[in-house]
Amino acid sequence: MLTNALNAISSSLMQTYNRAPIQLVKGKGSFVWDQNGVKYLDFTSGIATCNLGHVPESVKQALIQQLDQLWHCSNLYQIGTQEQLATLLTVNSCFDQVFFCNSGAEANEAAIKLVRIYANNGNSKNSTIVTFKQSFHGRTLATLTATGQEKVQKGFSPLIPGFQYLPYNDLEALDQLINIQPCAVMLEMIQGEGGVISANQEWVQKLVSICHKQSILLIVDEVQTGLARTGTLFAYEHYQFEPDIMTLAKGLGSGFPIGAMLAKNEVAKAFVPGTHGSTFGGNPLAATAGLATLETIFSTNLLSTIQEKINRLWSKLKEVKQKHSLVKEIRGKGLLIGIVLEKEANQLVELARQEHLLILTAGPNVIRILPPLTVNDDEINQFFDIFNRILSEVEEL
Ligand SMILES: Cc1ncc(COP(=O)(O)O)c(C=O)c1O
Repeated sequence: MLTNALNAISSSLMQTYNRAPIQLVKGKGSFVWDQNGVKYLDFTSGIATCNLGHVPESVKQALIQQLDQLWHCSNLYQIGTQEQLATLLTVNSCFDQVFFCNSGAEANEAAIKLVRIYANNGNSKNSTIVTFKQSFHGRTLATLTATGQEKVQKGFSPLIPGFQYLPYNDLEALDQLINIQPCAVMLEMIQGEGGVISANQEWVQKLVSICHKQSILLIVDEVQTGLARTGTLFAYEHYQFEPDIMTLAKGLGSGFPIGAMLAKNEVAKAFVPGTHGSTFGGNPLAATAGLATLETIFSTNLLSTIQEKINRLWSKLKEVKQKHSLVKEIRGKGLLIGIVLEKEANQLVELARQEHLLILTAGPNVIRILPPLTVNDDEINQFFDIFNRILSEVEEL
């Protein structure tokens, strides 16, 4: 019976991903190995998750110790590491309080609930939330509604009411906020999934100014940009403003699932016992992974050493653009990099994999590279050797 069933379908997994035909079974630093022992240079970092490289020793040791102590306890009890992690996050950002969950979508869901309850407590005329076209905020019903991409929303109607979308980086369109009068605006400082597009400084300044004047809350979704990915601990630090709310996930646990929603006191106090919760959110194992990750970022001075790597990588990227007509534009910030091509990006991803290099796309013609923040010079050189070679190959086709 079982064999028949297995023969009838190639996999019992729901087909929600186009998976590459390799199974990764081991990782260390910037490298992963497949089931046949083939070694790959990983410039995807699990899509901006393994920021400290694969299996970072300090996080591993902290998790091993915690595995011996306590795996889980309910949030109805105090969790010491969760308190410590919240303190470390708030001391190093402009926020005062943290809610822990398990993923980026859940962190955004929490942010959406927080601004709604804050608005409905009499702090805003309406509970509409404005987000931006090409944004990506997650796959739950509320967060896919917040996502400004039809392809993500298609087939899931009816969507959640109370969302409106404006074009990203469009100065004039921001004037519409005055008519819409939303309770909040949610944005990524760099649209990662949407094609690695950075928010323009002037546009952010105008957005912040309107939001302050109109008492509109600002939520930054730093699920992809957070935890030093762009060269600062959080990407909003590249812009001169303080958001009211920030969401994190991916890089926070070095691969262990954890998400967080941070808010300033004035807004955070709208959440009281019973308004929101999560069984696993910030449990002892997840909080330990988060705490060890953040402590490692600070104890290794990552934020000061990373700038040199970023400069090196970007100067080599400039050379790539000069050398290859296939490359139209290089964009992004820090180690969240988009390489816009004249052709479809998928082909290059395949070729790279054949050369044992893992890279990503961000839209049909954008290659996205997300090296670990611990990447060294040899690995950077190895990347450019392969990347230049496959670009030439595609150019010759
Ligand atoms: C900016 C942003 N927000 C939210 C999410 C959703 O995070 P998760 O997949 O952990 O739910 C992602 C995932 O790629 C993201 O890039």
